[in-house]
Amino acid sequence: MDASPAATLSAVWPMGAERTPDGALRVAGHDLRDVAAQYGTPAYLLDEADIRTRARAFKEAFTEAFGAIGTQADVFYAGKAFLCTPMARLLLDEGLSLDVCTGGELAVARKAGFPGDRIGMHGNNKSVAEIEDAITYGVGRLIVDSFEEIERVAHVAAAHGVVQGVMLRVKTGVEAHTHEFIATAHEDQKFGFSLADGQLMDAVGRILEHPDSLRLLGFHSHIGSQIFESEGFAVAAERLINVQLQVAREHGIVLPELDLGGGFGIAYTDRDTPLSAPQMAGQLAQIVQRACDAVGHPVPHISIEPGRAIVGPSGVTLYEVGTVKPVQVRDELTRYYVSVDGGMSDNPRPALYEADYTAQLAGRASEAAPVTARVVGKHCESGDIVVRDVQLPGDVRAGDLLAVPATGAYCRSLSSQYNHVPRPPVIALRDGGSSVWIRRETIGDLLALEGRNERANCPVGLRRGRFGGCEAADGALR
Ligand code: LLP
Repeated sequence: MDASPAATLSAVWPMGAERTPDGALRVAGHDLRDVAAQYGTPAYLLDEADIRTRARAFKEAFTEAFGAIGTQADVFYAGKAFLCTPMARLLLDEGLSLDVCTGGELAVARKAGFPGDRIGMHGNNKSVAEIEDAITYGVGRLIVDSFEEIERVAHVAAAHGVVQGVMLRVKTGVEAHTHEFIATAHEDQKFGFSLADGQLMDAVGRILEHPDSLRLLGFHSHIGSQIFESEGFAVAAERLINVQLQVAREHGIVLPELDLGGGFGIAYTDRDTPLSAPQMAGQLAQIVQRACDAVGHPVPHISIEPGRAIVGPSGVTLYEVGTVKPVQVRDELTRYYVSVDGGMSDNPRPALYEADYTAQLAGRASEAAPVTARVVGKHCESGDIVVRDVQLPGDVRAGDLLAVPATGAYCRSLSSQYNHVPRPPVIALRDGGSSVWIRRETIGDLLALEGRNERANCPVGLRRGRFGGCEAADGALR
């Protein structure tokens, strides 16, 4: 047995990732060669202890920091980052709440037995069926996004004899992204009620017209994604506290809650330097306290909605290399196109957002001099890039296992079956065991979607139309 210790990896990798003395990658005690042999490639791997540690760190840090300013804070995990039943159960175990934004995400929460009063539901165009599902399941808060929705929620709540807790999504005029924020931009987007033109106060008035079916809990703002600094939150919080104060003055109501949304950044490559949960919690608590003190408003109950920061760093996608093609780009640059057995269908983020990732050989060490490589997928598009620029050993070859870290968030959840490539499984790894959280799709799954579930019959008086819909005798599609 080799006596040299395993080498730890950088912060881009899950906490339980290391390189074994014989050169393979290990995650949560599992040699990735064995994982590939057991589950096949490509596969999304999740380090379960890493997710738990991050979930706990958020919960503890926000409880402590906001406790210190005399209030409470809840962490609503944003299910859009990644959701399945075992994930929801893990979050429940760790004492988190859950943010869902569709009936589909709510169905997962229900299947997991997630209590309704710890669920918040977003969405700028929730259907009446989704609102009905949420209200009958006892979802604690609906984040209302439009005037139409105020009436829809009031109507459904009244029909069920419920006084539904609602928050108003606010367009604070703050747009934050990695390393920058703009405090006057972002009016021109679909979410929320504008602070700028009086819409928000009109919405407050409309909600207060329905005291028997709606209870206004407070305001909600989500300022962006992959945020590494707290200035954007400071401006948003200040603006929200000011309108809470305005509501208190105009309507005599102190709104008890304030949600600051998610967007906490993670490291995709070693160039990214995110704040830790305690740093972010400490800064946000100071921000909220300052904003409240400045206008003499009581500090509300706070909630946040991190998705990426809880599950993103816990994920690694494991691929197998199929081809390696050196391309002479310039005299001094040969780029090695390393094709793997997945691609933009399992991770569309590079194509969608020019997102950067990194990669390492997972099955062996190599002494070969590094070459400039581009990891690409198997799809019929030249934009099908998994890792745009990475140094890989010059002897990278077909059959090598390749691991791409920081793929726990917005990879499976944004995945597609483009080119009829079935989706990879999600495998949770823990010390002493592993489990299939989502199984691998098969070609059979894809073919099974064709036709059979279609509503077979048109309603009385309509006939099956040329284009597949139901049409009236005059040919109008119904
Ligand atoms: N809360 C609300 C209301 C949101 O809209 C989002 C994300 C979150 C929380 C969670 O944000 P996080 O902490 O995960 O950054 N597909 C993109 C991200 C879109 C996020 C949309 N909303 C990506 O892959 O980067």
